[in-house]
Amino acid sequence: MSNLLEVKNLSYIYGKNTPYEKIALQDINFTLEEGKILGIVGHSGCGKSTLSKLLNGLLKATNGDIILEGINIWEKPKNIKSIRFKVGLVFQYPEHQLFADTVKKDIEFGVMNMGVEKNQIDIRVRKVCDILNIPLSILDKSPFSLSGGEQKKVALAGVMCMQPKILILDEPTSSLDPLSRNNLLNQVMAYKEEFNASVIFISHNMQELSLICDNILVIKEGKQLAIDTPQNLFFDDKLLNESGLKAPEIIYIAKELKKLGYRIKDDILTVDDMCKNILELLGGDNK
Ligand SMILES: Nc1ncnc2c1ncn2[C@@H]1O[C@H](COP(=O)(O)OP(=O)(O)OP(=O)(O)O)[C@@H](O)[C@H]1O
Ligand SMILES: [Mg+2]
Repeated sequence: MSNLLEVKNLSYIYGKNTPYEKIALQDINFTLEEGKILGIVGHSGCGKSTLSKLLNGLLKATNGDIILEGINIWEKPKNIKSIRFKVGLVFQYPEHQLFADTVKKDIEFGVMNMGVEKNQIDIRVRKVCDILNIPLSILDKSPFSLSGGEQKKVALAGVMCMQPKILILDEPTSSLDPLSRNNLLNQVMAYKEEFNASVIFISHNMQELSLICDNILVIKEGKQLAIDTPQNLFFDDKLLNESGLKAPEIIYIAKELKKLGYRIKDDILTVDDMCKNILELLGGDNK
């Protein structure tokens, strides 16, 4: 499968050549295929949001290139707006994204700027409300009368309506309860399936990343520590130590049982996987 996105030697410095100069990202390299989900993880301030803004052309890299469908996104700077339609970014703080006096106007804003016809916009809005389980009754409300979680959903709906090939979500689950969090993961998967899109999912929650990501990019202090599958990352003790990140709890239980000599599979990621493995052990002479 060909790469939808290639990121080469990407670096970004805030306030370059000023007393406030801050190196936010240094030499980031990865590729993303169509239909795949890439997680991005790393401690606060490591550069995740900066990377998301570089990817959709809100910021321009100090060094390096972003190649989307074979073309450098800054090849024609005048066309950068069209990149933002292809690489949709849902900001970390959705209240920064909402501005209209009704939810409907907010959701429609981006897609209207794309020049999509009115009746097509209505179809898209309904489709997205369906995917995200947004009741049509709130469309005439003010977005500022909604809860934080609902506002996040509206911001996400606005970006999904543009039907970007790459959907970037910057910590979309950070203020959600566990049920809403699971719903959101399913809704993102539904969007991906419907539009054969790719997703970049920024999160501090390793468990949720393990559930949806094909690969995870680990960043520490602006530098790329690793990019690999959740399995490989979670069982790499050296990397976990170096990054200061914690794998999901269940991984540590798997590791302990392995040390004790139990036959634990290498692809355990979730409590469900673990339960199946333990039941298999209990059912046979596996030790
Ligand atoms: N506008 C700015 N001007 C100067 N420095 C900035 C600016 N925005 C971010 N930074 C700095 O760049 C670094 C990376 O910030 P960024 O917001 O990308 O981190 P992050 O990984 O998204 O963190 P978090 O998990 O807290 O959201 C931080 O040290 C931050 O202080
Ligand atoms: Mg951030």
